[in-house]
Amino acid sequence: MVDRIRITDVGPRDGLQNEDAPIPTDRKAALVRAIADSGVDEVEITSFVSPKWVPQLGDAAALCDLVAPDRPEGVMFSALVPNERGMDGLLEANQRAREATGQDVIAKASVFTAASETFTKRNINATIDESLARFVPVIERAHDAGLTLRAYVSCAIACPFEGPIDPGAVADVSRRLLELGADEIDLGDTIGAATPESTARLVERMLERLDTPILDRLTLHLHDTFGRAADCVRTALEMGVRSFDGAAGGLGGCPFASTPGKRAPGNLSTLSLVDAIAREGRETRVNRDRLVAASELAERVIAEARAEEQA
Ligand code: HMG
Ligand code: MG
Repeated sequence: MVDRIRITDVGPRDGLQNEDAPIPTDRKAALVRAIADSGVDEVEITSFVSPKWVPQLGDAAALCDLVAPDRPEGVMFSALVPNERGMDGLLEANQRAREATGQDVIAKASVFTAASETFTKRNINATIDESLARFVPVIERAHDAGLTLRAYVSCAIACPFEGPIDPGAVADVSRRLLELGADEIDLGDTIGAATPESTARLVERMLERLDTPILDRLTLHLHDTFGRAADCVRTALEMGVRSFDGAAGGLGGCPFASTPGKRAPGNLSTLSLVDAIAREGRETRVNRDRLVAASELAERVIAEARAEEQA
């Protein structure tokens, strides 16, 4: 049996959300198409968050309308949703897509919280408990609409404000999310602090503390601040993790993880991710040449937007 590794490209969301220069929606759509054509399993295309908080992704509805007719067979589109208002936006986009194409555009909604109180407050203006309470109706509505529900736990290794995070706390938040009905857990190393050792400790604690077989439902989301993310992927693969996030071109980071002296770091590039997986003798669905083209486009889209802003 081929033990194929699942790849989600979060570039159009995590890659672009930290970019100040406005990026035209049709350029974002071109990027989504190029990434989808590379054969990743999933593209996280946008966020239905407050445009006051993340102006760059204020065009989520328009982007969904643009890409709805072009989703290749076998590729899933997903989007972040922080609250019921976001779920309204996602479901409306799916309704419009059904009218236009006969099928939904978004198949997975992703809620997001953290294992750090300070980061959760700064990112979604809630305590961890409040965030989980907010997710209850969001998860119910996602499932009623036939969507898969991913739940991110940020600061899974360290918090930009609180420092190292206890892996037990990450496992506890994950357990609560699973109890609320999350189908999968995505552990975010928001600031790229992970080492192979801390990655191993985190996965070990998840295996110990969660009574459900977690490896089938676990994704690792690495940022690549110190160039160690590919080593962490190798360790995670050895421990049985089978799903990873990357971002075309290694763009991005969370604007609310930036500190005055330090901008949030970019994601592990999907190309480095796929290469690290190949070095371990494992397969993905990705066509490397097409992924190179998508990565180049990601860099071009950002460069054009910055040049346009300066002009
Ligand atoms: P708040 O200010 O407490 O909420 O923000 P509010 O309910 O008071 O709403 C404020 C305004 O936003 C209101 O508008 C709402 O209507 C509107 P006004 O009345 O002032 O005109 N609003 C919305 N508009 C559109 N869509 C919505 C929505 N909700 C409210 N869904 C809130 C709370 C959660 C909304 C805000 O904090 C927010 O949007 N945060 C998003 C932060 C974000 O996107 N962060 C980046 C993603 S997480 C990440 O990058 C980490 C990850 O990559 C993993 C890792 O690396 O660790 C996933
Ligand atoms: Mg991230």
